[in-house]
Amino acid sequence: MSLLEVRDLSKHYEGRRSLGQRLTGTAHTVVRAVNGVSLAVEKGEILGLIGESGCGKSTLGRAILRLHEPTSGRVTFDGSDVTALSPPALKAMRRRMQIIFQDPYASLNPRRTVADIVGLPLALHGLASGARAREITAEVLERVGLRAGQLDRYPHQFSGGQRQRIGIARALVSNPNHRLRRAGLGAGRVDPGADHRASGKISSAKWG
Ligand SMILES: Nc1ncnc2c1ncn2[C@@H]1O[C@H](COP(=O)(O)OP(=O)(O)OP(=O)(O)O)[C@@H](O)[C@H]1O
Ligand SMILES: [Mg+2]
Repeated sequence: MSLLEVRDLSKHYEGRRSLGQRLTGTAHTVVRAVNGVSLAVEKGEILGLIGESGCGKSTLGRAILRLHEPTSGRVTFDGSDVTALSPPALKAMRRRMQIIFQDPYASLNPRRTVADIVGLPLALHGLASGARAREITAEVLERVGLRAGQLDRYPHQFSGGQRQRIGIARALVSNPNHRLRRAGLGAGRVDPGADHRASGKISSAKWG
């Protein structure tokens, strides 16, 4: 079974009616941003989605995570039907399914330090607080190629590429697999090869 399976996923947005449409009582225009997409991603595999601006790439990502509720279709992650999860179960699943936003500056609160931003998911999921949260945050920063000494800096003090790495760190911090690896727990439970492939991709890609 694939780690992620998407079956016939669609997301349609109801567009705003123009003045003319409102006056004539014309129905809403529907934007079919994503229409019947099926795909599968194996553990450790990286899937690239290529297409012109506005073709629905981000919408597909949001619909898979249910950040925007899909109009129809099914998403299975590690055997669980994401589309059928209750809000608390979905919240738990979000620890393992994270989005790295396209515009990192817009998604990083300018008034919060990197420690606060990257550590927030730990607080939200009740995983760690105080010194322990700071320790985990520092570890994850180092893992994405930043330094623990940068914890108390603000987003504007970083380059665009470094800000993207802050977004990646925030996406990784609540993932239990990250800490399993760090703690050196059973190789049977995680696939170290997959980890190396993924981090290899991160370090070899150009970030700003
Ligand atoms: N909240 C929304 N309400 C209505 N329409 C939307 C909404 N979000 C996106 N759209 C429309 O859905 C389509 C797909 O948008 P999406 O953001 O998924 O594109 P994209 O492929 O990620 O583009 P880009 O490469 O520019 O990031 C676009 O036509 C966009 O205008
Ligand atoms: Mg996009």
